Amino acid sequence: MIWENLVCLNSDVEPSFEVLGPARDYHATDSRLGDWTALDYKAALERDTAPLPLTSDREGYYGPDHFSYWASGLADARYLLEAAAQLGVDPQYYLDMGCASGRVLRHMAHERQGMRALGCDINRLHVEWCNRYLPANCTVFQNHSIPSLPLPDNSVDIVSAYSVFTHIEALETAWLMELRRILRPGGVAWITVHSELTLQDMTTDWPLWNPTMSHPEAATKLDAQRNFVGDRMVLRWHSDRSYASNVFYKLDYLKKTWSRFFEIADVRRRFPTFQDVLILRKPA
Ligand SMILES: C[S@@+](CC[C@H](N)C(=O)[O-])C[C@H]1O[C@@H](n2cnc3c(N)ncnc32)[C@H](O)[C@@H]1O
Repeated sequence: MIWENLVCLNSDVEPSFEVLGPARDYHATDSRLGDWTALDYKAALERDTAPLPLTSDREGYYGPDHFSYWASGLADARYLLEAAAQLGVDPQYYLDMGCASGRVLRHMAHERQGMRALGCDINRLHVEWCNRYLPANCTVFQNHSIPSLPLPDNSVDIVSAYSVFTHIEALETAWLMELRRILRPGGVAWITVHSELTLQDMTTDWPLWNPTMSHPEAATKLDAQRNFVGDRMVLRWHSDRSYASNVFYKLDYLKKTWSRFFEIADVRRRFPTFQDVLILRKPA
């Protein structure tokens, strides 16, 4: 074990990737094509010629449905830009924290071509993947699980963290402080979470069901109605590495505590699929 891997992932792995073709190669055969009828994707599909990551290089998202993986990122990018516009932000500088292999980042770079699109991830393999294959206005760097980012104060217009705070087992408020530091006044943060209502809504076909219900502590931390005690519940799988847990918050806690760091512009339940999103604004 090298020390970096206590706070990062795969820092000592020399990457070599196989890649898929561009999204258009997988459009006709996608088994979930019907999910995207409301998404205006034709022009985006034409212009995005970059390869797609293998399922194993994208955190397993959408399994064999490579087009759906691509379309989900486009939908998320558009929701984000729409929310930012509603709050009066026209982004020139964007950061996707925990970007993995660029599910959302690749689209942000296309949707706003003049924009500087940054990503970061604790997993070096994701960082290398993005820097090899994403458009040239994307730059991705490796961070670690201690809350600090090598970016100037008041510099970023929008920051997103999709399915990242759902796994941050420690130092969550310090991460909020760090995101607040880099955002410019009036800047917007889009952070997805699992709440106590996620647990209530969860059915056996959700990706979250197995890792939650098969956890050895689920029986003691959750009652028969899937309620937990306290402000948040951490189901930790490994004690010696980062990104090793599923984390659930009470929405009341989030509203009360996160509003010490940001204005809470909106809380959207199950938006657009399984997770809840907090849309936050750094006071102007
Ligand atoms: C469930 S995946 C979501 C990936 C991506 N955001 C998406 O929606 O496709 C979580 C990602 O967050 C990364 N991650 C976990 N903790 C992190 C941290 N403290 N800082 C940056 N990235 C982190 C993981 O390496 C992983 O790539």
